[in-house]
Order: sequence, then structure tokens, then C-alpha cells
Amino acid sequence: MYETNVLERKATKVESLLTSTQLENYARDGYLILDNFISIDICDLLINRANELVNEFDANVMKLIFSTINPYHMKDEYFLESGDKIRFFFEENAFDDLGELKKEKTLCINKIGHALHDLDPVFYCFSRMHKLALLAKELEVSKPLLLQSMYIFKQPNFGGEVTCHQDSTYLYVKEQPVTGLWFALQEASVQNGCLWAIPGGHRTQLKSRMLLNSNHHMAMEVYDDSPWSLAQMVPIEIKRGSLVILHGLLPHMSKQNLSPDSRHAYSLHIISGNYPYPGDNWLQRPKEMPFKGFV
Ligand code: FE2
Repeated sequence: MYETNVLERKATKVESLLTSTQLENYARDGYLILDNFISIDICDLLINRANELVNEFDANVMKLIFSTINPYHMKDEYFLESGDKIRFFFEENAFDDLGELKKEKTLCINKIGHALHDLDPVFYCFSRMHKLALLAKELEVSKPLLLQSMYIFKQPNFGGEVTCHQDSTYLYVKEQPVTGLWFALQEASVQNGCLWAIPGGHRTQLKSRMLLNSNHHMAMEVYDDSPWSLAQMVPIEIKRGSLVILHGLLPHMSKQNLSPDSRHAYSLHIISGNYPYPGDNWLQRPKEMPFKGFV
């Protein structure tokens, strides 16, 4: 049994997290950095747990899905069916034509998603710590539900770029946009591929939405095809243990990691249970495994 009580021991009950100035800054910028939100011990605990999961994962199962002789939709299904599972996603071009990984799996893993927060005991406890429930309350996310989680590796020397996007494109809720919580488990800098964002960009409309069509395939609905103002992007350079809160409409991205240092992060998305969750979002849960809150 994994030592999940480390998290419980480390969790300190606090009464208030955000000042009125921080809330104003979040409303103005669409993101907010909270330094030292979690301890270095907890960062290490999550990093070690993610590495364990990768080591336990049998990469041979990927052959069935990523071989070029298999129909393309198998790759889509691997993603689309991951909302209630712990699945492993690899960097682009990680596989050869036979579906074999070209490098050792630990060197080309891109991320783990998307239900770590419900299925893994360590990430379950972390994702439900008291501070996060309090944060959701102070951000006025009523009846919060944990929608998805991702462990992101951003490998040294080649961790891939994530192009500019709004999280609401992929996780859409009309009435109150999704809130992203992005934990830097390692230092995030310009050199190793930190987040970049357009301050205040969340006050523009949603540019596109990815939805499931009637054939259960992903389709992008575009409302505004003008390019992002990338010149307005600013880097979000943060230390280990910092948290970035991201508004669902905030344009953000991360560049390729060309440095020799990895940039591990854990991200969690929350929504309010007071509003309907669209049935044509890609991420769906079976009836027997509904989205759950912090308790
Ligand atoms: Fe994002």
C-alpha cells in the first residue's frame, strides 16, 4: 500500500488563501500565481508516483493502437475513452510503423491522463486536499467537481510544444468556464518550456470548440479563425511547488523543452456542478463513475 498518509500529514488546514488583490488580479489577467502552494516533499511524492506508474505500464499494449497498419480511429478512441481511466500518452513520432516505441518509455512519455485524481490513491488524496476545496470556494466555483487530471512530463531536450489554446475549447461549460489548476512539480522556466499566456486574454470570446459529432468522432467548431496575438504572450516562470490558476478562456501555450532539464507538472480541471455538462464534450464518464467533488 502506498504511503498516502504523507499527504495527510503535510496538509495544514488554512482558513483563507486569496486576498482581495489576488482575486482582482485573477479577474484582470485570467491567471494567478500562488508561490509555495505545495511543499517540495509533496512535489517529490507526486513525481515518484508518476515514475512508478510509467515503470509499471506495459508499453506493448501500445503496439495494437499505434501501429500504422491499424485504423487511425483506434488512436482517437484511446484518447476519447481516457476520461475514466489512467492512460499513457507519448510524444509525437515516438512509435515506429510497427507500433514499437523508438526509445525507452520513460524518455518519450508525454503525459498520463485523465482520471488519475479518481483512480490513483496518491493523486486522489492530493487532488482533494483541504486547500484546493477552499480555493475552489474562494474562486466561487460552487459545488465543484473534479473533471480531469493530467501528469505532464515535458521531457528534457524534446518535450513537445503545446500550441496556443483556451482550455474551454476542449472542456466546455457555457455558464461558468472550467478552471485549471497547474502545479509546478519542478521549476518551470523559459528554458525548459514554461507556460506562456496573454494577460487579460480570457476577456475575449471562445475561438473554437472541439466536440463529438454524431459518429463519435472529434470535430472542431471554429467561431473566430483570426490568429492569436502571440506577441502579447508573457512567460509564467515559477519555482517548484507553485500553483497557477488558469481561467478557461485564457489563451496559453508552452514551447518545446530544448533544455537538459525536465519540467514535470500536474494539472487538474474543475467545474461547477450547478451547470449542465455538455454531452458533446469529448470527456465523458459512464453513469457508474460520475464526476466527484472534493469530498
Ligand atoms: Fe491548457
